[in-house]
Parts: sequence; structure tokens; C-alpha cells
Amino acid sequence: MGLLNGKIALVTGIANKNSIAYGIAQAFKREGAKLILTYANEKIGKKIDPIAKELEALDCLEMDVSSDTAIDKTFERIAQITDRIDIVVHSIAFAPAEEFKRPTLYTSREGFKIAMDISVYSLIALTQRAIKLMEGTSGAFLTLSYYGAEKVVPRYNVMGIAKAALESTVRYLAYDLGKKGHRINAISAGPVKTLAARAISGFHLLMKHTMEVSPLGRGIDILDVGNAAVFLCSDWAKNITGEVLHVDAGYHVMGVMDKEDSR
Ligand SMILES: NC(=O)c1ccc[n+]([C@@H]2O[C@H](COP(=O)([O-])OP(=O)(O)OC[C@H]3O[C@@H](n4cnc5c(N)ncnc54)[C@H](O)[C@@H]3O)[C@@H](O)[C@H]2O)c1
Repeated sequence: MGLLNGKIALVTGIANKNSIAYGIAQAFKREGAKLILTYANEKIGKKIDPIAKELEALDCLEMDVSSDTAIDKTFERIAQITDRIDIVVHSIAFAPAEEFKRPTLYTSREGFKIAMDISVYSLIALTQRAIKLMEGTSGAFLTLSYYGAEKVVPRYNVMGIAKAALESTVRYLAYDLGKKGHRINAISAGPVKTLAARAISGFHLLMKHTMEVSPLGRGIDILDVGNAAVFLCSDWAKNITGEVLHVDAGYHVMGVMDKEDSR
């Protein structure tokens, strides 16, 4: 029996088959969930159409999270497709490319605003709309974070600040949502080569380093995140909320990085 049998999941953030959200959607489908997908704009929409077909999604809708009007319009469409959502996956982040090229010290006001708006506020905006379709159910929300929220990861810059705010948002929303019987958690994923990751200069070195020094001595893939997402969004995790679960081959537990590993 699938762990998500009978559940309807809204999955945002698939840009292509490398996207973390694609790994999550695949795992959700395997576990019996029905999917509704959203994408940022028309250009991406054309690319994910075949993915939506492959995943047998109930629908695949455009939703630019920088606009309240666009979010409302999409949720109106969703309400026509289903009277209930059980799961929402927020797998969205963005900061202008130049913010990864100069030191955090020189972050622009506009770059900061955009990063916080798209990568953090959008979680609140989606949650506000989704709970209207969760009345009488125990909804589960999930977002994606990264270790740069906790420690300095050179060149992750304003996105590290945004991820720290995102993890805090998860805790505050857990408090508000708990009263309604809903849960919200984050997965802090290890580095994965995706479109968003390509914006960060030296990303391949970051991946190599993580693989070399993590306790398990390897990297992770999008299905690892998907499998953890299944658990967090299933009824097996009914008393887990406000949590940040690391899916990073253990990298976050390391203090001193031992490059001369003699294990
Ligand atoms: N790749 C990694 O190494 C890594 C590690 C930890 C966490 N994450 C996080 O995982 C999440 C997914 O990123 P990914 O790595 O799969 O990359 P990705 O590029 O595949 O996904 C990012 C998604 O955000 C969407 N997006 C950007 N602006 C948007 C907007 N205005 N409206 C709607 N959607 C918008 C993009 O269209 C894209 O689908 C992000 O929150 C990212 O920070 C990534």
C-alpha cells in the first residue's frame, strides 16, 4: 500500500527532470498520491508538459509566486479541479544572478527584496490560500532549505539569509497551522546539480567538497529528497512539525572537515 494513497498533493517548482520537485513528485506518485503541478512561466510550462503527462498529474498550472493576483488565479483553478488538497510542496527559490557574484556585503536592496519575496514570502502566500482547501483535513506543507541557512557557505550569500528566514518561517507557521491540525516542515537538502544551483559560482566544487567530507562520503540525489518528503508528508509523521530534516549524507554534523580521512 502506498504511504500517500488517496492524498492530493500540490507540487510547485518543477523546471525540468533535474529539479528537486521532480524527485518529490515521482516519489509521491509511487506512493499513490494524485498530483497537481505548478510552474513559474509559459517558457517552463512548455518543458514540463511531458513531465506532467508522465506523472499523470490532474493538472499543470502556471503560478508566478511574485504576484498575489497570479497566485489567487491559480488557486481558483485548483478549486475547480478539487475541493481538497492534502499536501503542498514549496520548492521555489530565486535571487538575481549578480547577488551570487559579489560578496554579501554588497547585496543590493532590490536583490535582497527579490530573494526574500520569491524564496520566503511565497511560502506564506501559498499557505494562506492552500488552507482554504484543507478544512477538516490534516494538511502537510513542505519547503526546501539548504545548510547555508545555518553556516556561512561562500557565494551562497543572500540566499543563505533567505534560507535562514525560510526555516524560521517554518517554525512560526508550524505554530499557526498547528491550531488548525496542519503540519509544516523543511528538508535541508545537500547540493544537487539543478537549474537554480547553476547560478551559484563554484557549485561543482561545493558538491565535490560535500561528497568528500560527509560521514557517508557521497552526495545525494533528488529521489533521496523525494523519499524523505514522502515520510514527512505522510500520516506516519503526524507529530512532526516545525522541523528541518537534513538529507545531506550527514554533512551538517561535521565540525572539522578531515580531508586526510583515514577511516
Ligand atoms: N539544488 C540544490 O543544491 C539545493 C539544495 C538545497 C535546497 N535547494 C532548494 O530546493 C528548491 C528547488 O530548487 P532546485 O535546486 O530543484 O532548482 P530548480 O531550478 O529546478 O527549481 C527552482 C524552481 O523555482 C521556480 N521559481 C523561481 N522563481 C519563481 C517564481 N517567481 N514563481 C514560481 N516559481 C519560481 C523555478 O521555476 C524552478 O522551478 C529551492 O528552494 C532551492 O533553494 C536546492
